[in-house]
Amino acid sequence: MSRITVLGLAGSLREGSFNRALLRAAIELADERIEAEVFDLRDMPFYNRDVEDRGDPEPVTALKEAVRSADLVVIATPEYNQSLPAVTKNAVDWASRPPKPQAWDGKPVAILGTSPGRLGTVSSQRTLRETLSAVNAYVMPRPRFILGGAAEVFEDGRLVDESTRERLRSFMSAAADWAERFMEDRT
Ligand code: FNR
Repeated sequence: MSRITVLGLAGSLREGSFNRALLRAAIELADERIEAEVFDLRDMPFYNRDVEDRGDPEPVTALKEAVRSADLVVIATPEYNQSLPAVTKNAVDWASRPPKPQAWDGKPVAILGTSPGRLGTVSSQRTLRETLSAVNAYVMPRPRFILGGAAEVFEDGRLVDESTRERLRSFMSAAADWAERFMEDRT
């Protein structure tokens, strides 16, 4: 049986990003059904209709294609001021643009996030769910993966807390189940 192709996006440009580390760990802990690649958002320009009218810049074309061809998109987002960081929102916005059907339409998505604070991205994940419902992506409703206290569970970019690793393994297994529901050759 063919594998589930997963596209990973991390909504932080920071070298030592906890969310990028979380995404790496999620891919590492995913079961053998999954084949993953991470798309680096570093070179994405800010959305600008003038730029778009001149033709998509290369990173935008690549992002749209990557979202379109994935069976599942996994987004690890930070939280800024109880909402989405611009990096995450900008990626969703660019990929929602023509040609139609836009790349998110009917796309299974799993979202997760971490922050050093206690509430661990609960607000930004809520906002991201709303945004993704506006573009008709199918966001896995449960389980949620909200991780506070990031500074205590990552060491040198690696998720070291064993119970968190176990929770992440279950989350990725549920995400693979979620993607399979939408893959015609699996039902
Ligand atoms: C933050 N941070 C933060 N954390 C949180 O849990 N809730 C919040 O509302 C905010 N607000 C916020 C605003 C701004 C402008 C910054 C720069 C930061 C802290 C944030 O979670 C922390 O910087 C994380 O380390 C960011 O994620 P990465 O880059 O480590 O993935």
